[in-house]
Amino acid sequence: MRVGDAWYRSIWRERDAARVHAIDQTRLPHAFEVFEISTLEDAVRAIADMQVRGAPLIGATAAYGVALALAARNTPEDLDDAARRLFEARPTAVNLRWALDRMKRTLATVPAGERVDAAFAEADRICDEDAQVNEAIGDHALGLIRERANGSRPVNVLTHCNAGWLATVDWGTALAPIYKAFDAGVDVHVWVDETRPRNQGASLTMWELMNHGVPCTLIVDNAGGHLMQRGQVDLCIVGSDRTTANGDVCNKIGTYLKALAAHDNGVPFFVALPCSTIDATLASGGDIPIEERGEAEVLTMAGAATQGPCRVDIAAPGARAANPAFDVTPARLVTGYVTEHGAGASIDAVSAPAPAAATAS
Ligand code: MRU
Repeated sequence: MRVGDAWYRSIWRERDAARVHAIDQTRLPHAFEVFEISTLEDAVRAIADMQVRGAPLIGATAAYGVALALAARNTPEDLDDAARRLFEARPTAVNLRWALDRMKRTLATVPAGERVDAAFAEADRICDEDAQVNEAIGDHALGLIRERANGSRPVNVLTHCNAGWLATVDWGTALAPIYKAFDAGVDVHVWVDETRPRNQGASLTMWELMNHGVPCTLIVDNAGGHLMQRGQVDLCIVGSDRTTANGDVCNKIGTYLKALAAHDNGVPFFVALPCSTIDATLASGGDIPIEERGEAEVLTMAGAATQGPCRVDIAAPGARAANPAFDVTPARLVTGYVTEHGAGASIDAVSAPAPAAATAS
């Protein structure tokens, strides 16, 4: 997607080389910096420190982490060790497990001498497929925005956190339909939740949308309900870190409150996700491991001052804080789901390709 006049993916590999680059998301929006991931340790650190974040991008980074580990030491034990260390980097997004399982499955039958090349090739495929899948989500959900356009004012979409191209390899999930609508000439405007404590909405979603020229307005996390009561939100679209078999949606902390407000105000609430985010092994959301992050993220705020990026304290010295990073929105509050297979009212309806239409004989 667009950064100024250039086109980027969030992560990429240099042609035929064991060199992976990614955009450092801890530096945005104040600095655009690309960093290199050249070892397993780099990949683990990039995920744990959230230089890369967002469920699909965590999975893609882990896939390259496996390939880089094998490039350094190529035994089955090293593969298992790499997968274990990557798996432990962050607990909630199921795409991490999905990507590691896929890498292990692919490499299981590959002779040792071909394993490194096969690992990089599979990681490249995971990235390319992610871009295609997200673009398909955008195509399937474009109609949800287009059908709400009435010519008198923009279609107002509210989104939470960053489920844009920075959270994936390209296009994004929740933002893909917004890019598709904007590119198709639909008059669309986005309310962007700031998304405390790390402010992924303020620092990443606003940056992405503004780079693409999409009209957008930053709001504090508590403003969404008020805007919905006033009829100023036509629909909500969010992403997901893990969606369970019954359709419960785990996403960035605060998503549940937006879904409640949407339900109370009759605002449609959609979840855009690739099938790699569906965890069919869990019946419902109560069993999803919720990441607890450090107090410092709550007790301080990151920003930029005249001398450059800085953090400021926002609570009294000695204050304690709790920091659950995700919450679960029950399926009953979700109007519909959009995956690469289409849009539907239940997760079952979109978790596999639609059966081919029967031909008349
Ligand atoms: O903690 P983060 O920034 O990794 O959380 C990201 C989110 O919650 C996104 O909404 C989710 O991963 C969907 S990304 C397409």
